[in-house]
Amino acid sequence: MYEGKSKILQPCADDNTLIMHYKDYATSLNGKCREEIHGKGKINAAISNLIFRYLEKNNVETHLIEAIDETSAAVKKAEIIMVEVIVRNLAAGSFCKKYGVPEGQRLKNTVLEFCVKSDQLDDPPINISQITAIGLATQSELAELMQQALIINGLLCELFTRAGLQLVDFKLEFGKIGGKIILCDEISPDSCRLWDIKTGDKMDKDRFRLNLGGLLDSYKDVLRRLENVV
Ligand code: TMP
Repeated sequence: MYEGKSKILQPCADDNTLIMHYKDYATSLNGKCREEIHGKGKINAAISNLIFRYLEKNNVETHLIEAIDETSAAVKKAEIIMVEVIVRNLAAGSFCKKYGVPEGQRLKNTVLEFCVKSDQLDDPPINISQITAIGLATQSELAELMQQALIINGLLCELFTRAGLQLVDFKLEFGKIGGKIILCDEISPDSCRLWDIKTGDKMDKDRFRLNLGGLLDSYKDVLRRLENVV
């Protein structure tokens, strides 16, 4: 069993399958701030399952097999690539802090960044030559991750725009099954920045990070809007 900050992965009878359970916790600062939010797990499970099914329909292979109950899904067991891929359409979060760019500035091209998937190291940023040098992924795997990330960004921007939401940035994780790269983990307001297109309201985990309150209501609203457009 593997327990992360917001999910638990458990083995099951089928050796090629894992059960992914969404917990009722919001965390920030790599787990240093943590709060139980009753009902968050099932909203994130529903949002992520809906998005993964949408991506599958659009020829993006993911680890999702099927929802098991409100907070759990069966997923394909994959060898996780220990690199997180961050995709940015507008400046926000650490990008603004690092480069002094105003929040909300449209970026002239889509930005791709990589971080090491390591709670112990606080997910440090890493570049392509560093990734290949320490063997986290090969050059050709990275080329595929970048291509997949851009395709997923196009599909997600289209979906969220229909839902009246601006996809500001998000984080992806990938794994390998028999050498094939597939999308893993989750896509939810925990791993994306989503702003209401009309009002600019933050509808994602920044509500917790910035102590704005109303996280669960925003997540429910994101789910309701997605269900209306998918
Ligand atoms: P950042 O601005 O803090 O670098 O985050 C960029 C996006 O990636 C934001 O939508 C949050 C998401 N993200 C995660 O989901 N998990 C992480 O560990 C990191 C670093 C970012």
